[in-house]
Amino acid sequence: MTIVAALWLLLAIVASVAFAAGFALDASTQIEGASLGVACLSVACALIVWSRNFMPNATAVDEQHPKRSTDDDRDATLDELESGVRQITARKNWLVRLGLAAVSVLGIAALFPIRTFGPNPSGRIGASDWRKGARLVRDDGTPLRADALEIGSVATAFPEGFVGGEKIESMASDAVMVVRVTPHELKLPAARSGWAPAGYLAYSKICTHLGCPLGLYRQGPQQLMCPCHQSIFNVLDGGSVVFGPAARALPQLPLNIDSDGNLRAGGEMSDFIGPDNWDHGA
Ligand code: FES
Repeated sequence: MTIVAALWLLLAIVASVAFAAGFALDASTQIEGASLGVACLSVACALIVWSRNFMPNATAVDEQHPKRSTDDDRDATLDELESGVRQITARKNWLVRLGLAAVSVLGIAALFPIRTFGPNPSGRIGASDWRKGARLVRDDGTPLRADALEIGSVATAFPEGFVGGEKIESMASDAVMVVRVTPHELKLPAARSGWAPAGYLAYSKICTHLGCPLGLYRQGPQQLMCPCHQSIFNVLDGGSVVFGPAARALPQLPLNIDSDGNLRAGGEMSDFIGPDNWDHGA
């Protein structure tokens, strides 16, 4: 049984090292989770083997005595306990050391995830890649042309050059809902009067409440709705909050139409993206 316990502890050490290495090398979360799980399980198995085979398992009944034990009895009991501990630790001393090594390596490996704490690693939450002149494209990179949408329909768009597998993180924050409305319905502030050519409007797809993606467009009242907590935004007046817990209007992207009929950004987003409590890198 000594060998069995030792093998479990060795496996715990190997798995802990594998976890630390996987974390340092940015291995998949499955590998990290599996190695950490094996390490913890191995330590647990070693402890079970240890407790079942090397710890005294006799049932002891301690009689209640009305009086304090005699000094001789107390000394004899202490001697017995100390001799038992000496016997266990003397015979299995190396196993104890191996157990301590396994727990130590696992403890050190557990420190590796600490490096993921702290500020947003990418530093781009709330930022966007929209710049003046950027062409609006769909998620497959094809341009969104000014004749693409009927009045009362919507599409999701991204800045050209920021779509595809490598850009999956930026796509989440860059996404805008493009809505086409009848131009004479518009009630945009005067400063944004030129932001909606041919009735095209574009708003950030990230809800300003807690950051859920907007997904619902209500054509009748011209509203965008967040499915998480039902915040509703007015499409016609610059994305103001009509209802719900969101406290800030949707950021709007000014648009224009180039000579080839493509929709392009007329500038940057009107405000930072997402909830106020996100780290906007300020
Ligand atoms: S995240 Fe949109 S309403 Fe809460």
